[in-house]
Amino acid sequence: MRTVDGSGTTLVRAMLDAHSDIRCGEETRVVPRILQLAAQWNRSAKETNRLHEAGLTDQIIGDAVAAFILEVVVKHGEPAPRVCNKDPFTLKYGVYLLKLFPQAKFIFMIRDGRAVVHSLISRKVTVTGFDLTDYRQCLTKWSNSMKTMLKECEELGPDKCLKVKYENLVLHPKSEMEKILKYLGLPWMDDVLHHEQFITSPEVYPCQSKVERSSDQVVKPVNVEALTKWVGAIPDDVVRDMETIAPMLSNLGYSPKDNRRTTAH
Ligand code: A3P
Repeated sequence: MRTVDGSGTTLVRAMLDAHSDIRCGEETRVVPRILQLAAQWNRSAKETNRLHEAGLTDQIIGDAVAAFILEVVVKHGEPAPRVCNKDPFTLKYGVYLLKLFPQAKFIFMIRDGRAVVHSLISRKVTVTGFDLTDYRQCLTKWSNSMKTMLKECEELGPDKCLKVKYENLVLHPKSEMEKILKYLGLPWMDDVLHHEQFITSPEVYPCQSKVERSSDQVVKPVNVEALTKWVGAIPDDVVRDMETIAPMLSNLGYSPKDNRRTTAH
C-alpha cells in the first residue's frame, strides 16, 4: 500500500490487518530507503557500468534488493498467507517492485491534498521534502508526488494497482473494502469493518507503532470526522492560487475551488 502520509494509510492497513489472511504491519522505513538506493545505482550510467564491470548484473542486484525487502516485510510480524507493507512513497518505484515481486499488488491511497497537508501540518508528521511551516510548499510537493505515483500506478495497470479514495472509504467502508478484497482475491470478512476491535486487543494487535502518528485516530471505528478538518485552516493566498499550486487536485477529481468541504468522485 503506497502513497503520501496523511492519506488514511494507517486506517486501511488496520482494516486489512483485521482480515485473518492478511498481515499488514507498521511502516518499516528501511524499504523505501533501499529502493531509493537501488534507483540511484540504476540511474547513473557510470555507476551501472562500474557494477557491471565488477560482475554485478541487474539480476544480482535485483535479487539482493528483493531478498532484503522480503526479510524485512516477512520477519517484522506474524506469518500470514498475505503480507502487506505500508511505507509511504514506495509506489514511486512500483514498476521496479513489480519486477522484483511479480505477484505483488499495490493499493494507491488518494485523499484531497488540502486535507493531507493539513493532516501533516496539524499532526507535525515529518515527511522528507515537506516544509511543515509552509502550506504552499507542501501542497506543491503533494501534487508533484501524486503526479509521479499516479503515473506509476497507471503504468502498472488496474490488475496491479488499485486506486482507493480515503473519502470513499470512510463514507462507504463496506463497498470500498469489498472492492479491495475482491481485487486482492480474498474472501469477504466482516472483521475488516471492525478494525478497532483488533487494535485494542493486545493479543491480536500487540504493537501499534509509535512512529505512526495516526495511532490516536486509528483506534476509533471508521468515522467521517476528518473530512472537513482542513476547511478554514489554509492561508487565503494559498486558497486563491490552489489550481496552479496543486493541479493534481482536479486531476484526481477534487474541486480546487470548493473550500467548504472535500468533494470526492
Ligand atoms: P486527519 O489528520 O485529517 O485527522 P495516515 O495514516 O496516512 O497518516 O492518515 C491519517 C489520517 O487518517 C488522519 O487524518 C486520520 O484522522 C485518518 N484516520 C485514522 N483513523 C481513522 C478512522 N478510524 N476513521 C477515519 N479516519 C481515520
